[in-house]
Amino acid sequence: MRRKFVAGNWKMHGSLAENQVLLDALNRGIANLGQIDCAVCVPYPYLFQAQNILHDSSLSWGAQNLSQHAKGAFTGEISATMLKDFGCHYVLVGHSERRSLYGEDSVLVAQKFKAAQASNLIPILCVGETLAQREQGVTEAVVSEQLDAVVLLCGVEAYSRAVVAYEPVWAIGTGKTASPQQAQEVHQFIRRKLAARAATVAEQLRILYGGSVKAANSNELFTMPDIDGGLIGGASLDAEEFLKICSSAH
Ligand code: PGA
Repeated sequence: MRRKFVAGNWKMHGSLAENQVLLDALNRGIANLGQIDCAVCVPYPYLFQAQNILHDSSLSWGAQNLSQHAKGAFTGEISATMLKDFGCHYVLVGHSERRSLYGEDSVLVAQKFKAAQASNLIPILCVGETLAQREQGVTEAVVSEQLDAVVLLCGVEAYSRAVVAYEPVWAIGTGKTASPQQAQEVHQFIRRKLAARAATVAEQLRILYGGSVKAANSNELFTMPDIDGGLIGGASLDAEEFLKICSSAH
């Protein structure tokens, strides 16, 4: 049985004062939800704050990106061991905004995935197609290429220590959620594809859906057989909304 997992992606939002309010509210709310896996992926400067506020909480925290390198002359970059220093459990890799705005291709994303695992972080690998790609009917080919890059570099077994997030680019921040059926189709494709190489790994892999998830649609999405939770952007900045989404995964 896969345990549901909900992760928030704050993106470039927050301030010390705002985060204090949000994290305090999440901390209190999560305590009432019982056994559930939830996390927030916060901007780097706030990892220390997240660690301070959440150290006793069942809410985990993580980052939104990392360097593929372990250390060295890489001005402005952040390594996996630095994230571990601040108690991170998770790190997003290959978010579509990183791919499209910062030119991260699947090879680089796989290197980041590998660097995360080398420091015992759980990478949350984001995959998904653009609207144009969906309309061209190449969704499966696009997602395959994104998944295969990791298999090539790290081996399929690496997925046993990772989470995958399917996020159709056209659904991110647009208010246009994929229907539960549309999402389920791709989730099932991802699981079957990996199952062809490693059945147990695929069966145990948590595949999250992301893209305009909110409390009003999370229940429906999370009841689909291959949807194991969500990666939540905008709605994760609102404590009440995020907690409702977490409880619908419960
Ligand atoms: P959204 O973002 O929930 O605001 O659509 C999801 C994401 O980018 O991870």
